[in-house]
Amino acid sequence: MSTSPSIDQSKLRSVEHRLRLEHLVSPTEPSDDELHPGSDVVRGLTQTPKTLPARYFYDDRGSELFELICELPEYYLTRTETEILQQYAGAIAEITGACELIELGSGSSTKTRILLDAYQDSGQELIYCPIDISAGILESSAERLLLDYPDLHIHGFIGTYELALQKLPDSELPTRVIGFIGSTLGNLNPQACDLFLQQITDALKPGEYFLLGIDLHKAKAQLEAAYNDSQGITAEFNLNMLRHLNRRFDGDFDLTQFEHVAVYNEAQRQVEMHLKSLRSQTIHLKALDLTVEFEAGETILSEISRKFDLDKMQHLLESKGLMPIRVWTDQNQWFSVLLCQLK
Ligand code: AVI
Repeated sequence: MSTSPSIDQSKLRSVEHRLRLEHLVSPTEPSDDELHPGSDVVRGLTQTPKTLPARYFYDDRGSELFELICELPEYYLTRTETEILQQYAGAIAEITGACELIELGSGSSTKTRILLDAYQDSGQELIYCPIDISAGILESSAERLLLDYPDLHIHGFIGTYELALQKLPDSELPTRVIGFIGSTLGNLNPQACDLFLQQITDALKPGEYFLLGIDLHKAKAQLEAAYNDSQGITAEFNLNMLRHLNRRFDGDFDLTQFEHVAVYNEAQRQVEMHLKSLRSQTIHLKALDLTVEFEAGETILSEISRKFDLDKMQHLLESKGLMPIRVWTDQNQWFSVLLCQLK
C-alpha cells in the first residue's frame, strides 16, 4: 500500500528535525594509516607470519556477507545475544533510566531496536547516539529508525570508536550508556582489549554505564562449525578481503588460489581465521608498490575471535573500575551480556 505524498513529506520533515549528525575531528596528528592509506597492509604482508587487519573485511559486499553470517544456523552468536537482550532489555532500561545510548558500530539494527523498544515501553527518555566511520551508513540507518520511532532523537557521530571515546560531549540526559555488543571485543588482541576498556573508563563519568556482549569459551567442534559454515558464507567473507584489497590497491590476488581456514586455538581461546595460499605464488599491490611471495600452504592471519571466560572478564572489567552490576547469560552459557557501572 502506498502512502500519500503529503504524509511522506511531513514524516521526512519530522525525521530531519530529530536527527543530528556530527563529524568528529581528531585533536591529534593524523595517524600513519590516514597519511599513508594501506601502510597497515604493507606491514601485515611483509611480516612473518603474515597478517591482515580485520577492518578490510568490511567493504559493501563484506558488510552484506556479515549480515548473512549472523543468520547462519551454525553462527549461534547473534541469535543467542538477541535472546538475552530480548529477555533483559526491560531491566536495562529500568536500571539506567533516561539516558543517551551510545552504540559503538552501527551493529545489527535488530539488536538496537530491542533496546529502543525497551526504553520506549518503559517511558524512559532516550537519545540514541550511533557511531560509525561511514556517514552514509549512519544516515540511512538513522533515517529508518526515526521513521519507525516517532519520538526518538538521534545524535550520530561520524568517526572512529577511538575518536568518539575521546570527544563525546557531555550528556544532555541524566546518564549515558556506551554499548559494545556483538562480541566485537573478541576481535581485539589482549593488549588492544585492555587499551579499549581503559578508553571506555576514561570516556565515562562515575555512575555511567557500559553494556558489553561477549562470546564465551565452549567446545572446539561448536566453535569451528560457527566459523566453517556448511554454506561457505564465512569462507566467502574471508576471501572477499582479498577482492577488497585488489580493488582498493590495484592488486592481483587470485581468489581461487587461496582457501579459507578457521581453527580454534584452545590454548589462546581464540578462533583464528586464515587465508591459505594453495600454491607458491607472487602477488602485487601496485598502488602500494608491494610485491609479496607466498609459499604453498603459507597462511595470512585475517582475524582472531576470542572466546572469553566470564569470571576473568568480570575481573578485568573491575580492574578498570567498570563494575558489572548485572551479568546475564543464555541457558547454555554460550554468550553473556554484562551491564557495568563506572565506580
Ligand atoms: C564481528 N565479529 C564479532 C565476528 C566474530 O564472530 O568474531 C566476525 C566474524 N568473523 C567470522 N564470522 C564472524
